[in-house]
Amino acid sequence: MADTKTATLTFDNKSFELPMRSPTVGPDVVDIQKLYGQAGIFTHDPGFTSTSSCESGLTFIDGEEGILLHRGYSIEDLAMKASYLETCYLLLYGELPDKKQLPEFENRVTMHTMLHEQMTNFFRGFRRDAHPMAVMVGVVGAMSAFYHDSTDINDPWQREVASIRLIAKMPTIAAWAYKYSVGQPFVYPQNSLDYATNFLRMCFAVPAEEYQPDPILSKAMDRIFTLHADHEQNASTSTVRLAGSSGANPFACIAAGIACLWGPAHGGANQACLEMLREIGSVDRIPEFIKRAKDKDDPFRLMGFGHRVYKNFDPRAKVMKESADEVLDLLGIEDNPTLQVAKELERIALEDEYFVDKKLYPNVDFYSGIILDAMGFPTSMFTPIFAVSRTVGWIAQWKEMISDSSKIGRPRQLYTGPAHRDFVALDQR
Ligand code: SDX
Repeated sequence: MADTKTATLTFDNKSFELPMRSPTVGPDVVDIQKLYGQAGIFTHDPGFTSTSSCESGLTFIDGEEGILLHRGYSIEDLAMKASYLETCYLLLYGELPDKKQLPEFENRVTMHTMLHEQMTNFFRGFRRDAHPMAVMVGVVGAMSAFYHDSTDINDPWQREVASIRLIAKMPTIAAWAYKYSVGQPFVYPQNSLDYATNFLRMCFAVPAEEYQPDPILSKAMDRIFTLHADHEQNASTSTVRLAGSSGANPFACIAAGIACLWGPAHGGANQACLEMLREIGSVDRIPEFIKRAKDKDDPFRLMGFGHRVYKNFDPRAKVMKESADEVLDLLGIEDNPTLQVAKELERIALEDEYFVDKKLYPNVDFYSGIILDAMGFPTSMFTPIFAVSRTVGWIAQWKEMISDSSKIGRPRQLYTGPAHRDFVALDQR
């Protein structure tokens, strides 16, 4: 049904009717695209706390109810019943793949997992102690210099090839960033392996012995990939959309998304959270850190806690917490002290008035680091793994942006600097 509702804005004895639009689910929006032209005013929302930046059919979050849907399917169902590549297909093409489409898609991705051999030189240009996210930003951006046949954003076929190349090559790039940091030789992808197992082998295999895939680790890795795939218009996705709106090529846009994800308030929180849990060290030190997190004069925050949208449990954190128990148990890692600290910290925080009042709950980053640590990854690899997983979300959102609008994203501002003033010569100052 066509949207006919309107909102009335009244000021200075003037009234303006603004069209409203209703979503499939979620809050209505007031369409203010013509507001400045009609009323000569801007709206002001620096953190986009009340602003819809686009129309999207990919992912829906209900922050009050702790619901996350990808094309209508719950994250719980996808994480427990689908593979990461099934979820990739769903995000890219709108439906879960059937028995013919899934193997075809898996094969297309598998056939693009190798990197142009000359790109290995980029890794060697970094210091060994470079953060893997620095390497990923650089190498993914450099893909623009190697895959010229998939940089024309106006050619649907080139957009499709670039999408598959990025999803396929991110695990190779992340694994090689890790190998370079530990001084081990690059391990090439194996076409006989599934996506998650291939990534684990590229990270942990060494030429000196055969790599023995561990189905427990492969399943946990694939589930972690699925849980991080997409998340509405989060900071890094908004970065990719804004970069894409200028017509930049897909590799440059994804490099911009990786750069934004790196921040500790966003994807860098999984690394910061595990480092925080290790710093806490034991349950008896938790009150000291809770006190610091509540202290307005202390910049310390509980990493892995809180979320711009979720004001209830992050559903991904629930699945991650169950997986942490399962993986550590299956790996025979009894009473992992970091997991004990995490569970006690969660229990205490969720009973504390400050966190209850501010509706601060564990988010996706709170438990993920514990599983990745148990799988043998250093904390520096946690955010690169988030980036590998989120690439499909960035790509799906980028493709949607291109097909929906050709307008460059260009926010306005509330200017509070000086009005015009005459120049003062140096000898007069
Ligand atoms: C991700 O957007 C996404 O969807 C992101 C993501 C995705 O999948 O893409 O979900 C992934 O980035 C998850 C979030 C990971 N970040 C962290 O865990 C870092 C710690 N969390 C905080 O930095 C914070 O909660 C944010 C950044 C996540 C959200 O910040 P908001 O929405 O801007 O909220 P805010 O900073 O305005 O906080 C509201 C209040 C503040 O107190 P007051 O100024 O109102 O008195 O809550 C307090 C904050 O001080 N607060 C915290 C806190 N988080 C918020 N206090 C202590 N510890 C915290 N973690």
